[in-house]
Amino acid sequence: MSEPRTVANDAPGSAATVASPVAAPAAAPSASPAPRAGAPFPVAHAGDGDTAALVRLWDRAGLLRPWNDPQADIALARRGPHSTILLIRQGEALAGSVMVGHDGHRGWVYYLATDPDFRRRGIGRALLAAAEDWLKVRGVPKIMLMVRPENDAVHKFYVAAGYVEEPRIIFSRRLDEK
Ligand SMILES: CC(C)(COP(=O)(O)OP(=O)(O)OC[C@H]1O[C@@H](n2cnc3c(N)ncnc32)[C@H](O)[C@@H]1OP(=O)(O)O)[C@@H](O)C(=O)NCCC(=O)NCCS
Repeated sequence: MSEPRTVANDAPGSAATVASPVAAPAAAPSASPAPRAGAPFPVAHAGDGDTAALVRLWDRAGLLRPWNDPQADIALARRGPHSTILLIRQGEALAGSVMVGHDGHRGWVYYLATDPDFRRRGIGRALLAAAEDWLKVRGVPKIMLMVRPENDAVHKFYVAAGYVEEPRIIFSRRLDEK
């Protein structure tokens, strides 16, 4: 039997929740990050005013790299209907984020981060569940992500969440001359 979910309002920065089955997206598929029923953390879409806090969070979580432009990454993820950034706040603080999107075939997760002050409270798991549900309502059958080999704690996090390691080699090429 499918689990009932709560689905957050689509308005950027909003976390209003309404009951909704996961298989029934609203008219536009841009709606709804969906924390699992009973999740204690309301999930919201990143809004225009969240960029600075997101960059600070990613810095504190060790996710910034010199070759990435986080402001541009945020703008690109928020621009179209096939990606978004989901947030969990604790009071005034931005406690966690995840960027999720799909390429028409697979779903991908980036910038999953819980602020060091809020770790081991289930926020990372709740964000990952919301990203999974965001993809499920769009018919995406599989979620993928990349983890650096030395990031042992994060390996443990994903294994605990039911993810399996796949033996693949990643090829890439920059398209921005960097
Ligand atoms: C990975 C990360 C998002 C986890 O966030 P979190 O909110 O602390 O995770 P949760 O509290 O939801 O943890 C869920 C479970 O994952 C496992 N887990 C989480 N962190 C772990 C760690 N450091 N070591 C071992 N297991 C861990 C545990 O089983 C945990 O359950 P438990 O606390 O009941 O034992 C956080 O550690 C982080 O921001 N890391 C730095 C950024 C990063 O590398 N992100 C991943 C990019 S791919």
